Amino acid sequence: MLNASHSFFFSGIMKISTLSTLTFVYITSATAKRVACLNNSHTASDAKCCVWYDILNDIQAKNGLFDGGICGDDAYDALRRRSKGDGADGSLIKYSDTELGYDANGGLDAIVMDEKALADKYGVSYGDIIQFTAAVSVRNCPGGPRIPFKAGRPNATRATPDHTVPEAFHSADTILKRVRDAGLTPNDLVELLASHSIGVQERVDPDIPGTPFDLTPDVFDTNFYHDTLSPLASTRKSDYALARDPRTTLHWRLLSASQPLMANRFAAAMDKMALLGQNAKILYDCSEVIPAVISLKPDLKSRAKLDRSCHKF
Ligand code: HEM
Repeated sequence: MLNASHSFFFSGIMKISTLSTLTFVYITSATAKRVACLNNSHTASDAKCCVWYDILNDIQAKNGLFDGGICGDDAYDALRRRSKGDGADGSLIKYSDTELGYDANGGLDAIVMDEKALADKYGVSYGDIIQFTAAVSVRNCPGGPRIPFKAGRPNATRATPDHTVPEAFHSADTILKRVRDAGLTPNDLVELLASHSIGVQERVDPDIPGTPFDLTPDVFDTNFYHDTLSPLASTRKSDYALARDPRTTLHWRLLSASQPLMANRFAAAMDKMALLGQNAKILYDCSEVIPAVISLKPDLKSRAKLDRSCHKF
């Protein structure tokens, strides 16, 4: 790492007499200092980011939270945990005695306890651990984008009231109002719902636990948008309604047509949601800790099947 920056630096110096502003910027960025982390072999742009490499090693380890980096139940839960209506302050962890009693938080006990233990072990805030594990969980699912990660949130000082989180039986009107109150647009919501591309339901219909939301629950792909648009869709009432509502259907269809668009817009919407209620000026950027994405191999068989059902729509 050090050698690489040195060679950039020297080549910049040689060009400085002949090149103008561009060279200057080049030198400035090439000489940006990195610090060597004490507990691991990484370097970081900010020493405060070092701890997140330790946490990454912990959760991605074979017996860690994500059990070797698997896109499975814990990854789904960590991401679902991220959707809760407490802004980004981690109140569900700090006030778990109260908030785990809310219906909308059903099934989140285990992930909340795991994330609390991690935050306490490494001395980071509950809001930060939630953002981080959600970003790593998305990255662990093939096709999932790299979501920016900014740290430095203070812990919550009060519990979030009940009934702030949209539920599967809510109408599009109720959900869009709730989302607007939180500072998000209908397009933001459609983009965030790409998260339903991974995961399964346990509680909406307890008779069929483990039912996925689309044909490919362990990859982050556009099948979710296609499936919900299909007339044969057997999905949550809320997703079904939003796929057809005049305020959201165009964007829904747009995202269903492009994996890169879906992935990029999801990352941007997650970044926006992560800053809700936070003072962005005190946060520092540790996005570099999130590992590189795992590319998605097109599943042509299921794609063709879905396209046929969508054409009937
Ligand atoms: C309109 C807003 C939303 C509604 C009504 C909604 C509703 C639900 C429901 C009912 C489930 C199934 C829970 C179960 O049966 O165990 C679920 C799962 C899930 N939700 Fe949402 N959700 C919404 C928004 C979000 C957002 C914004 C995210 C992420 C940023 C998200 C991520 C997830 C994930 C990953 C799962 C799968 C969890 C698992 O497999 O264990 N949801 N959602």
